[in-house]
Amino acid sequence: MTLARYAVFGHPIAHSLSPAIHAAFARQHGIALEYTAIDAAPADFAAALERFAAARGRGCNVTLPLKEAAFALCAQASGRARRAGACNTLTHVDGQWHGDNTDGAGLVHDLTGRRGLDLRARRVLLLGAGGAARGVAPALLDAGIDELVVVNRTPERADALVDALGEPARAHSRYWDDLRELGDFELIVNATSAGRGADDFSAPLSLVNSRSVAVDLNYGEAAIAFLAWARAAGCLETVDGLGMLVEQAAEAFELWHGVRPQTDEVYAELRGRDKTLVTAD
Ligand SMILES: NC(=O)c1ccc[n+]([C@@H]2O[C@H](COP(=O)([O-])OP(=O)(O)OC[C@H]3O[C@@H](n4cnc5c(N)ncnc54)[C@H](OP(=O)(O)O)[C@@H]3O)[C@@H](O)[C@H]2O)c1
Repeated sequence: MTLARYAVFGHPIAHSLSPAIHAAFARQHGIALEYTAIDAAPADFAAALERFAAARGRGCNVTLPLKEAAFALCAQASGRARRAGACNTLTHVDGQWHGDNTDGAGLVHDLTGRRGLDLRARRVLLLGAGGAARGVAPALLDAGIDELVVVNRTPERADALVDALGEPARAHSRYWDDLRELGDFELIVNATSAGRGADDFSAPLSLVNSRSVAVDLNYGEAAIAFLAWARAAGCLETVDGLGMLVEQAAEAFELWHGVRPQTDEVYAELRGRDKTLVTAD
């Protein structure tokens, strides 16, 4: 029997947890599939995706830095992918790629479901304007936050993200150098990849108030610097991106296979597997 083929594309991708997560979900439902990690540099991504389709690849996840390129390669995109301008989940349908973005739903599921947080009426600071930030921004607005302030190292990308959101009354972009003047936030989301290889993270303590929750979309060592700053700054709660990773994968799995997998067991297994993940929670 030929197994149905799925994959995650990224650059780098060797340490991705997605193959283990999808294999665990498939075991829950007795679905036979192959899910591999494929490294594709941005310049090679279109060709790699074509080769995967030619080898009867049915669906794939896409991670950094390829999500905006994935959106451009899709013949059709869901509403949430169009709002994000970025795709993390592609499905091969009648010879074409259909794109979706499950990152935002994954984050909101983790924060409201697993963590029991009420996101409504929160003032939110989003650091970063890459593919992940584009995915989570619309979902945070839909979850009822009061205001979204987007700050990015390259300010033009923050402006473009906010323009694409089309909610000028609730979403604004600001300069990184002006963080001190932005007031305080009930939710601070790090959607940058700056923590990869960084020893520390620095931002004004004035961003934090007595209700602040800090969320890093990264997990493991890449989340240590930001979450250490958040704890030192007095955040009430700190959350890494492992739960979001599992929840966005569950959304993708449901799109492909039509069944919603249980996530708690898979999350607990991954959390227990790695000591860096434990300290990052
Ligand atoms: N937990 C999950 O399920 C999940 C899902 C998605 C992503 N993520 C994580 O989220 C992170 C971002 O992913 P992505 O897809 O958005 O990547 P991306 O498209 O490559 O964007 C990277 C972002 O990080 C910023 N950045 C990079 N280095 C920086 C530095 N030294 N200082 C300040 N900003 C810096 C970039 O700013 P510029 O625009 O100025 O370059 C950009 O905003 C990744 O580490 C990824 O692993 C986690």
